[in-house]
Amino acid sequence: MRSIGSAFRSFTAKNSKSAVFVFVFAVLFSGFLISIHYTTSQFYQNGRRSFARHRYTNNIINQTCNCKSEKTGKVYDFCYTDPKNYSSVGKKFDCVHVDTLERLEVLNYREPLPTASELIKNEEEIVFVSTSSDDHYQHSSKSYESIRKYYPNHKYILYGLHMSPDYIERLPKDTNFEFRQFNTAQYPEYVSQWLQYRFKPIIMAEVSKEFPNVWWIDAHVEMKQPNVIKRFFEEVATNRSSDDFSSITSFQNTGHSNFAVLFPELLEYFPSNSLPLLKTSEQVAAGLIHIPRTEQTLQIFKWYVLCALDEECMNPPGAQIYCKFGPNRYDYFANCFRFDQSVLNVLLLNQFQDPHKYLSELGEMFGRM
Ligand SMILES: *[C@@H]1O[C@H](CO)[C@@H](O)[C@H](O)[C@H]1NC(C)=O
Ligand SMILES: *[C@@H]1O[C@H](CO)[C@@H](O)[C@H](O)[C@H]1NC(C)=O
Ligand SMILES: *[C@@H]1O[C@H](CO)[C@@H](O)[C@H](O)[C@H]1NC(C)=O
Repeated sequence: MRSIGSAFRSFTAKNSKSAVFVFVFAVLFSGFLISIHYTTSQFYQNGRRSFARHRYTNNIINQTCNCKSEKTGKVYDFCYTDPKNYSSVGKKFDCVHVDTLERLEVLNYREPLPTASELIKNEEEIVFVSTSSDDHYQHSSKSYESIRKYYPNHKYILYGLHMSPDYIERLPKDTNFEFRQFNTAQYPEYVSQWLQYRFKPIIMAEVSKEFPNVWWIDAHVEMKQPNVIKRFFEEVATNRSSDDFSSITSFQNTGHSNFAVLFPELLEYFPSNSLPLLKTSEQVAAGLIHIPRTEQTLQIFKWYVLCALDEECMNPPGAQIYCKFGPNRYDYFANCFRFDQSVLNVLLLNQFQDPHKYLSELGEMFGRM
């Protein structure tokens, strides 16, 4: 059998005019392929950059939303825009918070950041982070022990909420355990009102600045099974790797809708395109979440942290934690608010429109104490 190469050689030898034709055709055709490739990759790139592009457009449309950093000269958009409706723009956050967001490197991160799938390769990189106050010490230490049972050597950081020396004394003596008293001096005084849960987004942002792969675990949550990290990494790699999944992942459901625990004032800051969706979508828990430091995570964190720093956003007038559920836990406002959790859910739901995009299926590996 003759090879294609030798067929071509004999063909060119016999007919040099056709050879020129074939050559020209090949050049044109590969040019065509290259241009198709270029157009499609542009398209995907645009999709991935839509957050950033939109921020830019919005600056031009609505100058009143701009905040300029005195330190860096950079200009940021401090009005949230509903990602599903660009004419639906929220109340502006105070420009005074630019400094804090820059210090936390939520706005002015050094690009390029890794993608979520690049951050699920090395199990050792996971850092467990939790918080405790004196009155949560019992739960917190049980939670810590439940993790140590399966991950004896992973880094574990506990942030203390004004924890007293007596309790600090009792903390684990473990080389991979680190205690940090949460320093509230750099934040508005209401950040120290723990029952408004402002500390959560803020500590999450602080610790994410240092560690790209944070696993947040509230004092009331225990780990019940081995191989949690391995199984989660597998889940991300096989089922959740496409761009339309959230990089921030929760592991537990709450059993009620977003609407049931949403003080409507929050929507003045973060307008939402669908009331029915707020009623049908289940709220996910913010007590157990994986936070990889990706661009997408920081785009959500910008608003999450701004809300925590704003006096009313994180604590709308009358907000309180005790719910009085109606005939069901979805369609009726239960006159309660879940603070950090209600806020994170509105941001994620607005962006992804479906809780499955930010909820892992591995919830049964954990329990609540
Ligand atoms: C988008 O938002 C604007 C302003 O809030 C509103 O008037 C309009 O009805 C919204 N469009 C859709 C399709 O929801
Ligand atoms: C710009 O944003 C401000 C603050 O949210 C709002 O009051 C104003 O209506 C917006 N202007 C335009 C043209 O969208
Ligand atoms: C992927 O999703 C399917 C369907 O929900 C599930 O059965 C499967 O266990 C998941 N795979 C992993 C590795 O989590």
